[in-house]
Amino acid sequence: MKVSVLGYGTVGFGVCSMLEKAPGLELVSVLVRPGKADKPFKVTSIDEIVNDPEVEAVVEVMGGVEPAYSYVSAALAAGKHAVTSNKALVAAHGPELAKLAKEKGVGFLFSAACGGAVPFLHNLALAVESDRILSLGGILNGTTNFMLDSMQRSGMDYADALKEAQALGYAEADPTADVSGLDALRKIMLACAVAYDKLPCEGFSLEGIESVTAADVAHFQSKGLVLRLVVRGGESEDGKLYAFVQPVLLSASSPEASVLKNFNMAKYRGENAGDIVLIGQGAGRYPTASAVVRDLSDIVHGRREMMKPDCVRVAADNSVCECRYYVRLPADLADALPFAEKELDGALCRGVTEALAVTDMHARVKALRAGGAAVFFAAMEE
Ligand SMILES: NC(=O)c1ccc[n+]([C@@H]2O[C@H](COP(=O)([O-])OP(=O)(O)OC[C@H]3O[C@@H](n4cnc5c(N)ncnc54)[C@H](OP(=O)(O)O)[C@@H]3O)[C@@H](O)[C@H]2O)c1
Repeated sequence: MKVSVLGYGTVGFGVCSMLEKAPGLELVSVLVRPGKADKPFKVTSIDEIVNDPEVEAVVEVMGGVEPAYSYVSAALAAGKHAVTSNKALVAAHGPELAKLAKEKGVGFLFSAACGGAVPFLHNLALAVESDRILSLGGILNGTTNFMLDSMQRSGMDYADALKEAQALGYAEADPTADVSGLDALRKIMLACAVAYDKLPCEGFSLEGIESVTAADVAHFQSKGLVLRLVVRGGESEDGKLYAFVQPVLLSASSPEASVLKNFNMAKYRGENAGDIVLIGQGAGRYPTASAVVRDLSDIVHGRREMMKPDCVRVAADNSVCECRYYVRLPADLADALPFAEKELDGALCRGVTEALAVTDMHARVKALRAGGAAVFFAAMEE
């Protein structure tokens, strides 16, 4: 299959290198910005690719929603298969692209957009053909996992852990999407769409790791607990979709606690298959490129869909899930939450709440923070 790659950055370069040796795949051209076409295979206009009858598939690895959406739409409309690593694109326009691909009888796959090399969506798309998926989740952001692991293992504070992650290339100069949990949220949105044909598009509960301190982590360690940023998704018995991201305190023996450095761990529970757990590198040039090339090979072997063309957008309803929450907040707010147990620690109160709906807890903390309180919270592992 003859392939054009849109974007020649970290992932794009990796895909082009892998295509040199990938059986059944051949690189035709690469889209670069005007002024950067310093080799014959580099082109600067999407029209050259869309109108090239030789090109059978495009790989979009530019990032962002536009012009990626216009370019991928144009390629699909021209009867070319499309593969992307771009979670922002699929979260924003996945249903439209899946529908267009179906109409044109071509493939649209996006494994690399969720979990890098970890074949999460790849396996999930196969699993839904024969099993009901009961729940989804795991650790889908390597940057935050690296930072929490560093804080846990070396006692460093949040700012130093972030600096270290940036120095090693695991965190971007603007780390907001990672540390706020948005990156992980987009990934669980895609996993929900693959598992349930429903793309959650609002009603999310999102808490990142920005509020955690070295003192918090030392406190968890003294209790044998490990902190991780965890995503959860699923469908309740009455068909309500839930999707949320929050820090979770785990026992040292839980599978998520064993995920170190910048690794990802994706898991799903099938009604018949039971728990399936996948661990691997969630980002990086070649791990991500490997997922792109796997999707291209899948297309060569006849796979066309990852998201169904009739996938609908729905609001998430996280009131269907309850957790007990560990909370650290100012001592004068010790009565602000329904604590089952609590202790005063100087000017701070640390405690564990009664079971609360995820939506309820996130809203309560938002209100406390709006009043100026510094609050950290994490769900207790069930
Ligand atoms: N890096 C990872 O580990 C990783 C992992 C999983 C998924 N992803 C996803 O993969 C995508 C690409 O990530 P990346 O890390 O490879 O980004 P990157 O290093 O910034 O590469 C993107 C490339 O696309 C080029 N580009 C952007 N818009 C363009 C346009 N309109 N025309 C031509 N070229 C254009 C950029 O050029 P300029 O530099 O001139 O802007 C850059 O060379 C993103 O959606 C990202 O979320 C990345």
